[in-house]
Amino acid sequence: MVPANNIVSVDQFDNQDVMTLLQQAQAFQEGATVQLNRPTFAMNLFFENSTRTHTSFEMAERRLGLQVLAFDPKTSSMTKGESLLDTLKTIQAIGVDLAVMRHPQNAYYRPLVQAGLDLSLINAGDGSGQHPSQSLLDMLTIYQEFGHFNGLKVAIVGDISHSRVARSNMELLTQLGATVYFSGPKHWITDDFTAYGDYRPLDDLVGEMDVLMFLRVQHERLTQDSNAAFDTQAYHQRYGLTLARAAKMPAHAIIMHPAPVNRGVELASELVDAPQSRIFQQMTNGVYVRMAMIAQLLAHRGLLTVNKLEGSL
Ligand code: CP
Repeated sequence: MVPANNIVSVDQFDNQDVMTLLQQAQAFQEGATVQLNRPTFAMNLFFENSTRTHTSFEMAERRLGLQVLAFDPKTSSMTKGESLLDTLKTIQAIGVDLAVMRHPQNAYYRPLVQAGLDLSLINAGDGSGQHPSQSLLDMLTIYQEFGHFNGLKVAIVGDISHSRVARSNMELLTQLGATVYFSGPKHWITDDFTAYGDYRPLDDLVGEMDVLMFLRVQHERLTQDSNAAFDTQAYHQRYGLTLARAAKMPAHAIIMHPAPVNRGVELASELVDAPQSRIFQQMTNGVYVRMAMIAQLLAHRGLLTVNKLEGSL
C-alpha cells in the first residue's frame, strides 16, 4: 500500500501498489461499497481548466459518500495574495479531509506535502509534471484489455514535452514491464523522455504496437509564435492517426487518448468513436480509479472502511 497521506506522483507506486489500486477500482466498478466512519469532506481546487478530472473526482467523492465543498480560485482569497499553503491550512482548519488539486506550476505539491498537513492531498495534474490519476486509469484500461503489461508495446505520440500524461505513463509502463516508444514532432521530445523509450516515425510504429496513445496538442502551453505557425492539416498528415494509418493497426491493437481530443488533429474524428478506441472507457475508468485512490487515503487515516469485494481483474 502507498505509505502516505498523499498521492502526488506515480513515483510513489511500486507494481504491487498499482495492482492493488487497479483491483480496488475494478471492485468498485463491480459494486464494492464503503462505510465512512464519520462525515467526511472533500474540496477540489482546480487552478487549470478541466472537464474529465474535475467531474470524475467529484463523482468518485460523491459515490463514496463524501460531502463536496465548492472552491473557485477566482473568488477565493488567493486573489488577495493568500498562498497555496495557507489556503490548505485554512480548509484543513475548517474541517476538509481531502483536497484534490490541479495547478499549472510543476511540483506545486512539494511544500504542501513537506508541511505535514493533517488532510489528504491528491495531485490532479501539475504543469508538465505528473498526472497520477490519469496514469492509473490508463493502466486499468490497458490491463482490462490485455490482462498484463509485460512485453506490451505502447507508443506515446504527440506533444510529449508538455505532457504530464506522457511523463507519468512512461514511468509506470516501463516499471510494469511494457516497452514504450515515442513519436511526434522531434522538437517536442527531450532526452528525459528518450531515456524511457526510442523515438520512431509513426509509420514505423502503427503496424507493430499493441497500444497507440495520442496526446493533445497543448496550444495553451505553446508560444504565440508556435501557435501562429501551427498547421492543423500538416500536423495530422505527419504525426496524427489518419484513417490510412489506422487501417495498418493490428486487429487486437487499441487507440487511447487522455482527452480532450482535437478531432482531426491527433486523430481522424471518426477514430475517436471507432471500435478500436478506448477513449470513453478511459473516462469511465477514471471514476473507479479515483474512488480507489480516495478510499485508500481515507482508509489509511481510519476515516473509511472498504466492504470487501474482490474485483474480477
Ligand atoms: N485528461 C484530462 O486530464 O482531462 P481534463 O483536462 O478535462 O481533466
